Amino acid sequence: MDTFQKAEARALELRRELAHHNHRYYVLDSPEISDAQYDALMRELQGLETAHPSLATPDSPTQRVGGAPVDDFGEVVHSAPMLSLANLFDDAGLVEFEDRIRKLTGLTQVAYVCEPKLDGLAISLRYENGRFVQGATRGDGTTGEDVTSNLRTIRSLPMELFPLDAGVKVPKRLEVRGEVFIRKEDFRKLNEKREEAGEPLFANPRNAAAGSLRQLDPKVTASRPLTVYLYECVPSEDLPAFKSHVEKLEHLRKLGLPINTYVRVEGVDGIRKAYDDSLKGRHALPFEVDGMVVKVDEEDLRRRLGQVSKSPRWAVAYKFPPEEESTEVQNIGIQVGRTGALTPVAHLRPVKVGGVTVSRATLHNEDELRRKDVRQGDTVFVRRAGDVIPEIVSVVLSKRPADSRPFEFPAHCPVCGAAAAKDEDGAIIRCTGASCPAQLVEKIRHFASRLAMDIEGLGDKLATQLVATGTVKSFADVYGLTKEKLLTLERMGDKSAENLLAAIEHSKQTTQRRFLYSLGIRHVGDATAKAMAEAFPEVHRLFTATLEDITRVKDVGPVMAQVIHTFFQEPQNQQAVEALLKAGVSPAPPQVSTSGPFLGKTVVLTGGMSGMSREQAKEEVERRGGKVSGSVSRKTDFVVAGEDAGSKLKKAQELGVRILDEQAFLLMLQGDARG
Ligand code: IVH
Repeated sequence: MDTFQKAEARALELRRELAHHNHRYYVLDSPEISDAQYDALMRELQGLETAHPSLATPDSPTQRVGGAPVDDFGEVVHSAPMLSLANLFDDAGLVEFEDRIRKLTGLTQVAYVCEPKLDGLAISLRYENGRFVQGATRGDGTTGEDVTSNLRTIRSLPMELFPLDAGVKVPKRLEVRGEVFIRKEDFRKLNEKREEAGEPLFANPRNAAAGSLRQLDPKVTASRPLTVYLYECVPSEDLPAFKSHVEKLEHLRKLGLPINTYVRVEGVDGIRKAYDDSLKGRHALPFEVDGMVVKVDEEDLRRRLGQVSKSPRWAVAYKFPPEEESTEVQNIGIQVGRTGALTPVAHLRPVKVGGVTVSRATLHNEDELRRKDVRQGDTVFVRRAGDVIPEIVSVVLSKRPADSRPFEFPAHCPVCGAAAAKDEDGAIIRCTGASCPAQLVEKIRHFASRLAMDIEGLGDKLATQLVATGTVKSFADVYGLTKEKLLTLERMGDKSAENLLAAIEHSKQTTQRRFLYSLGIRHVGDATAKAMAEAFPEVHRLFTATLEDITRVKDVGPVMAQVIHTFFQEPQNQQAVEALLKAGVSPAPPQVSTSGPFLGKTVVLTGGMSGMSREQAKEEVERRGGKVSGSVSRKTDFVVAGEDAGSKLKKAQELGVRILDEQAFLLMLQGDARG
């Protein structure tokens, strides 16, 4: 074998291994190797592909980060139409559905499959000789959009089929259908990151999934936590003749495709019970469902039943009643964010939705507000989207007061009066006032927040007071605060003032990551700040960095790079940074470990510690090259259990994960000299 052949053989082996570990991690949630070991395999493959570029095919796992942007999506004509499902809403509808099937088939006993109706968007995927070659959205059912490059970034979707079972043959051609969606937990984190970065929030997981899959730049898609489940495939001679749906799903699973495991087979009577169970259990599911899909299990019967217009006769969507309530819009206000974003917010007569009282609902932006045409005095339906953010679903027009007028988006900032202007992408309207007090309050609050300078006691209220009284006009003014000045503020006592000053003093010794995050640059959340701190350990280097230098930073896309570049070119911002350094703020460069017990390990922190805060513990682990995760699984290396550790400790015990008490944790930190 020559060098190339050797490299090619090793690359194939690595791809197979990586696909296997990817499946264990993203589909089964049960990895066999550590993240560091996985990264090492990936690096080896990257090395081979750099040395032999022809090995870097688009389906290589190294390409998950996203390929080149496109101007437009191409069209894909589906090999068989992508049907949709007829909906039913109550038991009477179900009875009708069953009756029809009994009549048409002449059978009294029919087996049905009950599956969660995933609330995402439908996709169709083509594999040829086991390689993923094309993927498309549903479109009008006949023709969809070619979103192949974006689908390649979805980690749970195999780019190459490596059967889990030796008896299963990879088909020459395979067309599978399923749903792309975002899990609730990932959605929450995604929005949290967007909030931190001053970006508009997604209304719900479905919108976030749809928006992410239809990005022209696959790198953006790659940064979104999309996932996928497959639930059907187009019949073909390359596949065994499946007798039932369940058999088909099992076959797809054995081919290495991600399949939803919440599937039940029931007789007629079982459907009702399955529906009640899934209705009750919907909040406990890790993803959003908007109903239950009932499908005839037997493939032969399906063929006999056929379809009417665009829906099959053999399946139906039994929808859940929406968790919505009606209430009244008392007024519509404009909230001013840290980056000047003006967000319309509806103030509602408080109402309970799904057990939680809702009194405000975001209207997101001007376009959304126009589209929904929500007005003061309107009766509206609200729901909690993604189990978190309350949202207005619709207006009850019949109850609209006769004298109501459309809400006029203000042309000026309601707080400082500066002109309001549309963003580059046209979605957000921002206040252009350089010294807008509302923005300043948000900026100071962000500056002092936990992941930023971590100044305890400097929250929303105090920030508002400091700005309103003119005591604080810039970040550096925080470091010029004295006890006398603080005591002039309403409700500020001796003790609180002293504590606050101590916290301010303490915050001076900080890290470059916190420092960069605290500046409140648009798009720069904690994760970006971390990557930026690694690339630019000293802040002055950002004053002279070129746009290209910044674009090279991990996970920083062109739009983000532009914003960061402009920020550090602006003399006012340079002065703000200098003033902070002059006031004694001292950001330490990140220290990177090359060895030690936490390097490449995943650690979960639970319970309280007496010696340090959760944040500090996290920082210590990360500084040593470890990763802190929020939940315990088999891939966790250590669980640090402090006082009153609860369910996470229990789970760690069950899974046999190594548990450290506070003292053992501190010893390990000390033993590792990199601290
Ligand atoms: S089967 C002909 N199964 O619901 C079969 N669809 O209203 C059509 N959906 O476009 C699809 N979960 O986006 C099927 N377990 C599931 C589903 C599901 C969600 C969506 C899918 C489809 C829509 C039909």
